[in-house]
Amino acid sequence: MASDEWLVASETTVPANSVESHKASVGGDGLRILEQLPQIIERGAESLTPAEKELLKWVGVFYRRPTPGKFMMRIRMPNGFTRAEQLRAIAELSRRLGNGVVDITTRQQMELRGFTLKGVPEIWEKLEGVDLRSLQTGIDNVRNINGCPLAGLNPHELLDASPVVQDLDRIIVGRDGNPEFTNLPRKFNITVSGCLDNCTHAESQDIALIPAKKAGRIGFNVLVGGKMGSGGFTVASPLNVFVEAFQAAPVVLELIKIYRDHGPREARSKCRFAFLIEQWGLSRLRTELIERLGHELAFQGRDMRSSAHADHLGRTRQKQDGLCAVGLCIPTGRVHSEQLDELARLAEIYGNGEIRLTTAQNAIIPNVPADSAGGLLAEPLLKEFSPRPSPFLRNMVACVGTDYCNLALIETKSRAVALSEALEQRLGASGNPLKIHWSGCPAGCGNHQAADIGFRGFKTRLGGKLTDAVAIYAGGLTGPQAVAGEEILENVPCDENLPEVVAKVIESYRFEKEAREHAALSDPLFAAAGTAGLASRHSPRRVVSPVVSPVRAN
Ligand code: HEM
Ligand code: SF4
Repeated sequence: MASDEWLVASETTVPANSVESHKASVGGDGLRILEQLPQIIERGAESLTPAEKELLKWVGVFYRRPTPGKFMMRIRMPNGFTRAEQLRAIAELSRRLGNGVVDITTRQQMELRGFTLKGVPEIWEKLEGVDLRSLQTGIDNVRNINGCPLAGLNPHELLDASPVVQDLDRIIVGRDGNPEFTNLPRKFNITVSGCLDNCTHAESQDIALIPAKKAGRIGFNVLVGGKMGSGGFTVASPLNVFVEAFQAAPVVLELIKIYRDHGPREARSKCRFAFLIEQWGLSRLRTELIERLGHELAFQGRDMRSSAHADHLGRTRQKQDGLCAVGLCIPTGRVHSEQLDELARLAEIYGNGEIRLTTAQNAIIPNVPADSAGGLLAEPLLKEFSPRPSPFLRNMVACVGTDYCNLALIETKSRAVALSEALEQRLGASGNPLKIHWSGCPAGCGNHQAADIGFRGFKTRLGGKLTDAVAIYAGGLTGPQAVAGEEILENVPCDENLPEVVAKVIESYRFEKEAREHAALSDPLFAAAGTAGLASRHSPRRVVSPVVSPVRAN
């Protein structure tokens, strides 16, 4: 498709679903809602049309049904990188125009809550002043681009991939948004990482660049077509392409354009990149990419990922002499404006003012001189945001839940924290960290199938009363042997028995995992997979069988 035909196409063809018709109403470019913003603000939130509610998401302004008149804004932070002055600006806006609550999300960005439409221009002005923006953060756009939060600092990385992430963000979004990338068939997730320890869930992304080596050169292998929703966790497939860092952005950009021009646009649940790949096959996609780029591409190199998973919490020695990074656990990613200010202050006093966000909704203060780390560890904020949390809290993720999400079926965040405390009491604070993820409904924003233990919320009837319940999943894995967690209990009420049920699941899970790891030592296939390069060539193995037979609670 030539130059700007994709914008016009949606004006001239019959829209395939309501979002397509909303886009068509602004010539295929959702950013054009900005032209109408003054009138929208004037009219007020009560008179927003369904189209306006959707289109406002192109500029990062989200109508929230559970809090009428009070909106949410997503703020992009490519690679999870942020700075003290940015956190201070967000804290100040949250206090003055919002409700004092900010969420760190699994896409390493932040959500500002509780402001009115009238506040939007002022919020944008302040954000712009600290080089932050909310553009293209919802609906059919490239979402915040993820990367290893310790990029450039981590001794365990093949290369610092963050310049690629920043380049992509600059081209795809930039200061004012880019209409070339605002009319995708559906949302689009990208991760670019040189970290060897699988700290971002690359396999669930539409495009993931993972660390690889080829003939002495370092760079990335390209994975495509991963997703979490629209039918569940689909593990991204190798496109059989190796790129060096300088070639990476053009390849990613062209893949997005192929999706934009050819991706399916009918049923919203069948529009992700994975479905185009299903139709075309990987080899046609590779050929189309080469044709568009106008040059050949190298075949994939050696996958350098280890089988380890790092969360970058606690103290990590940086590759820079005498410096360390201190990763803090922020339970479920929820922070209050005062805590945000304090985080900014600590980053300035002990580090160089940088803060980095992780995909497990946590934050890292990097560039701390090793001899000041003790002072940082003694700060009162680190009692709330611990660098050494319990194994049940450490990698816990919870989506928004009923607090603010109109689709939520259950409350998630405080329930997740309460459960982790109850588990610590029952099972103790030692043992390997577990990934425990909560989604408040089947949409699955909490990545519940990419966790050791996952929860999907729903409502059930218990003694004739509608009650919060969860389906429990186990065995989800990311990394070279990524596999979706399996549902093992389909209907567990969120009552006083939940911690006991989950503790039993965890005990069986740990027992199975240890037995499996023990067996793996004598399994020649697994012994061969001891090197990271070989590991990815083996097809994923199921990592857990149902640990308890499914039960119905009522
Ligand atoms: C039909 C499917 C889906 C719907 C309708 C949906 C809806 C939503 C809504 C309403 C929110 C905002 C809640 C708030 O903060 O107030 C949200 C946030 C989020 N969702 Fe989903 N979601 C869907 C699928 C997914 C899937 C499959 C993932 C990936 C695992 C995902 C990842 C996220 C993330 C990371 C956020 C936090 C904001 C961000 O950083 O982008 N969502 N989603
Ligand atoms: S999983 Fe459901 S409840 Fe949670 S944020 Fe997504 S849509 Fe809302």
